[in-house]
Amino acid sequence: MAFPAERLRRLRRTEGLRALIRETRVEPGDLIYPLFVCPGRKVRKEIGSMPGQFNLSVDEAVAEAEEARALGLPGLILFGIPPKKDARGSGAYDPAGIVQEATRAIKKAAPELLVITDVCLCEYTDHGHCGVIEGETIANDPSLELLARSAVSHARAGADIVAPSDMMDGRVGAIRRALDEAKLTDTPILSYAAKYASAFYGPFREAAQSTPRFGDRRSHQMDPGNVREALREVALDLEEGADMVMIKPALPYLDVLWRVRERFDVPLAAYHVSGEYAMLAAAAERSWIDRDRVMLESLTAIRRAGADVVVTYFAKEAARLLRRG
Ligand code: PBG
Repeated sequence: MAFPAERLRRLRRTEGLRALIRETRVEPGDLIYPLFVCPGRKVRKEIGSMPGQFNLSVDEAVAEAEEARALGLPGLILFGIPPKKDARGSGAYDPAGIVQEATRAIKKAAPELLVITDVCLCEYTDHGHCGVIEGETIANDPSLELLARSAVSHARAGADIVAPSDMMDGRVGAIRRALDEAKLTDTPILSYAAKYASAFYGPFREAAQSTPRFGDRRSHQMDPGNVREALREVALDLEEGADMVMIKPALPYLDVLWRVRERFDVPLAAYHVSGEYAMLAAAAERSWIDRDRVMLESLTAIRRAGADVVVTYFAKEAARLLRRG
């Protein structure tokens, strides 16, 4: 059967028809909102390269959490900006650290809202690297213990999910063992399994003050040209005990998401990162694109490529639009 009997436009005629046959939907329940928590009280400092996103003190982060819950978002992912940084990133695993404190406060104010914590050292080290430095290199094995300690301290503070983003080899296994030894057998791990060495993280590094003082992250994050290697990363993280996996960034890596979706039957997340947000926000500011429509189209594309969950700075804004219908 072909034209003229077949006309695909028949089912595109009205919004009712289009909605009926829509294959992919985005709902507030799919979206996770990232927050950057900093020391102080009543601090709400806008991030220059991410208009509409803020560094927030714990009290302000709690207010955001309550708003996120009211909008129907399932959870937050927390990043910490510690009061001081040192060579071993001790703020990352301090039981009284900034993320631990924020986690306790948010879980108290909004117990049903999921708190996911980013597990990495780069926001806490004075050199800005994701692990400990030995000579000129980021030492893999000595970093594992510190990452595992961070994850355990987050879980003890009440984190519902811990999310290692450091890309050290063996971190998922080290974190799983440490959680289990601490009797935290029910804390799931969302691993940033395929995290690329991407220039799209630029604005995040301003937000988290985590730009490396020397060198870059190419010795541990993935090369943008590789996709077979991403499948190996995912397979290894699952073997080591990851409960969910994440691909990052999102839009420039939709093929990676799709390949992982096809191969693995596990919950899959995508991180729509800071540079993706910044590009869209900047173009919309100049009225070069329609912010709302490009935002929803981007989130739909990420879901269509296979993501169950999307971490995005647009979470609150998208939820507001979607609820209006
Ligand atoms: C590392 C981390 C980064 C992001 C999330 N976790 C930065 C990096 O690897 O340099 C980037 C997120 C974004 O760009 O929105 N803790």
